Amino acid sequence: MSAYIGALDQGTTSTRFMVFDRHGRVVSMAQKEHEQIYPNPGWVEHDSLEIWRRTLEVVDEACDARGLRPKDFAAIGITNQRETTVVWNRETGLPIYNALVWQDTRVADYVTRFAQEGGNSRFREQTGLPLTTYFSGLKIRWLLDNVKGAREDASSGKLLFGNMDSYLLWNLTGGVNGGIHVTDVTNASRTQLMNLATLDWDPELLTIFDIPRSMLPEVRSSSEVYGNLTRTHLSGVPIAGILGDQHAALVGQTCFKPGEAKNTYGTGCFLLLNTGEKPVISKNGLLTTVAYKFGKEPARYALEGSIAITGALVQWIRDNLGLIQKSEDIELLANTVKDNGGVYFVPAFSGLYAPYWKDSARGVITGLTRYANKGHIARAALEATAYQTREVVEAMEADSGISLEQLRTDGGMTANDMLMQFQADILDRTVVRPVIKETTALGAAYAAGLAVGFYKDTDDLIANWSIDRVWKPQMEGTQRDEHYKKWKRAVTRSFDWTD
Ligand code: G3P
Repeated sequence: MSAYIGALDQGTTSTRFMVFDRHGRVVSMAQKEHEQIYPNPGWVEHDSLEIWRRTLEVVDEACDARGLRPKDFAAIGITNQRETTVVWNRETGLPIYNALVWQDTRVADYVTRFAQEGGNSRFREQTGLPLTTYFSGLKIRWLLDNVKGAREDASSGKLLFGNMDSYLLWNLTGGVNGGIHVTDVTNASRTQLMNLATLDWDPELLTIFDIPRSMLPEVRSSSEVYGNLTRTHLSGVPIAGILGDQHAALVGQTCFKPGEAKNTYGTGCFLLLNTGEKPVISKNGLLTTVAYKFGKEPARYALEGSIAITGALVQWIRDNLGLIQKSEDIELLANTVKDNGGVYFVPAFSGLYAPYWKDSARGVITGLTRYANKGHIARAALEATAYQTREVVEAMEADSGISLEQLRTDGGMTANDMLMQFQADILDRTVVRPVIKETTALGAAYAAGLAVGFYKDTDDLIANWSIDRVWKPQMEGTQRDEHYKKWKRAVTRSFDWTD
């Protein structure tokens, strides 16, 4: 048996390829950022061809760094930013438009129009999702309505849709020369076109959204052999796992029992709670989604609290305000002040996601006085991540009736000690981080490894998980309540800005 398993992690800001050994230790890694394109306020795009080029580069770079070749790999898995929508021509392989990124709000008018009948919860029963700008279905519809000739080409079967998983899989398995057009249940569950009960495209939804079935990939499990790589140094290696990135992190954190949850701190924050074999429809502003489906085993479902902007706020402070040079410097800047100085920053840049789902909200900074300085802004930005997480934890507990004893965390921002301590304080819960922090890529590698027998079962994976760091709450209750009350008040100030 080959020694390693690979994972391609196509995220919102970068693409990377990671190579793991059986114990989940990183053997090699290469990563490349891609451009974030903002053509209008609220619009966010990626150049899919740039992402495809970066994909080829990172796979080859990570392999070259350690002299790795196909025989070293049992399989590779793919994990990806979810919802981001690519439509391409199956004859040329060329995208018809830039990818519409999950954070893009251009379909807000469609949301209003579709919600006229049945309100924002119109499709919740079938899909687990509210009507909002976030998901792929309306983004496909926008492309078909707005790109010249797209509707006709889609009707005649020339166009294909995919999230980044399908787009890259199709290209990696041959592209115009027989590329495989499939996706997995977790990615499909974020399109608002898949029925949670049948785990397939819902004909009624396709009619309502007016999207031809022929564009859509076949929906498969998250762990099975889909095809072999035909490109890169790894030609011939099977691709055997696909998971949306947040679902991959749940798997990487080995949250296989109902009641187990993780929170990933990336561009946004995504808290997922495994609810077992039955979908739980949220009454408190959370999403119902497929957690994972390993081969022929029944699908497992999750409740999800999605927060659009957390790490992205740090990037904004770096790139748009220029207050820091590198993202990590936010902690130094925040530590130049002893507290937030009364400043609260609600980063509703893409509207507000869970638990509010308000497309018309926009970002606000409140509580400013002449005392406030850039340190307070930095601190308020970090604290926003922790407050938003508390809001989704509360919604999660209300929906599930389960009290989270501790919060399992992962993602880039968990390196920020100040944030993690504040998170424990504001939640009044213990926060833990595992030794293996690359849980997203690891989850995709695990899914692929299970499909090809590299791992026997989930117990093999659980054995790899252990705690690296623990943060315990230290804040006085009265102080915690006071902070949270002010945060809640600040949130109301962001509402109804574009109405
Ligand atoms: O739903 C969006 C999410 O999948 C993006 O994750 O890690 O790329 O910010 P990330």
